[in-house]
Amino acid sequence: MTPIVLATTREELAAALVPLGAQQRIALVPTMGALHAGHRSLMARARAAADAVVVSIFVNPLQFGSSDDLNRYPRTLDADVAACADEGAALVFAPSVDVMYPDGPPSVTIAAGPLGDLLEGAIRPGHYDGVLTVVAKLFGLIRPEVAVFGDKDAQQVALVRRMVHDLDVPVRIDAAPTVRTAEGLALSSRNAYLNDTETRHALALSRALHAAAEVEPGSSYGAIISAARAVLDPEPDLSIDYCTLVDPTTFAVLDATSTPTSEGLARLLVAGQVGGTRLIDNAVVSFAPSPSFQGDRS
Ligand code: PAF
Repeated sequence: MTPIVLATTREELAAALVPLGAQQRIALVPTMGALHAGHRSLMARARAAADAVVVSIFVNPLQFGSSDDLNRYPRTLDADVAACADEGAALVFAPSVDVMYPDGPPSVTIAAGPLGDLLEGAIRPGHYDGVLTVVAKLFGLIRPEVAVFGDKDAQQVALVRRMVHDLDVPVRIDAAPTVRTAEGLALSSRNAYLNDTETRHALALSRALHAAAEVEPGSSYGAIISAARAVLDPEPDLSIDYCTLVDPTTFAVLDATSTPTSEGLARLLVAGQVGGTRLIDNAVVSFAPSPSFQGDRS
């Protein structure tokens, strides 16, 4: 197997892309590092979708609200490169902030639009503008045929899809199912901040998704949300930011008093704080013919 290449500058990236880009289809897995089994599943999916896998590792300051969160974000480059090699990636692009933003914060950025202001975007103003701006830059630098994101941040996936659609960016967006611990916790680099007690409290998020999927077929959206809240609200040390149903395609927030769409599908999104750590989770809930919990695996 050809050894993995680590590029940290634009010049190294360009040189490494020459042999890859020549006859091969490139799949990009954009990450912020601290790679775990969820990222590995993205790389496996990327490998199946193209000939060469490129992984970017960049903790993007533009998408962080507070410098505390940015500074404490886990950075584990050596282990990350080893994980990428293990998963058969050809190239890791791990630029510094100065390499990525040589002129300082960009003066032209991507505006995520109305969906960027909802849900995660309401809690973290400007977050998705920062995400889309760096993703657009990575697409420009690496020119992948396909890019693979994790369904755990379903709003991010919806916005990236919308960006490539609205701006005619020639890349296909693929989303991989959330990977969970045996107990159900969605894998996230931020789980590294949780102690054992907090991990137990955090499990309420995925339990809430299961509870929502178990309501009677034909129930209103409000009943689905109530089932999830019945798990979340009594949980001590878990402060919920939102528990919201959206249309799985348009991401339009579904009115609690209305009944399910004819397809019988909606996406339930939950987010909250455990201790000082913000966690998100979601699942597609199917209402017809009987509710079920989809889109994840352990
Ligand atoms: O999901 C992430 O890790 C980040 O938001 C991304 C897509 C790598 C952009 O920085």
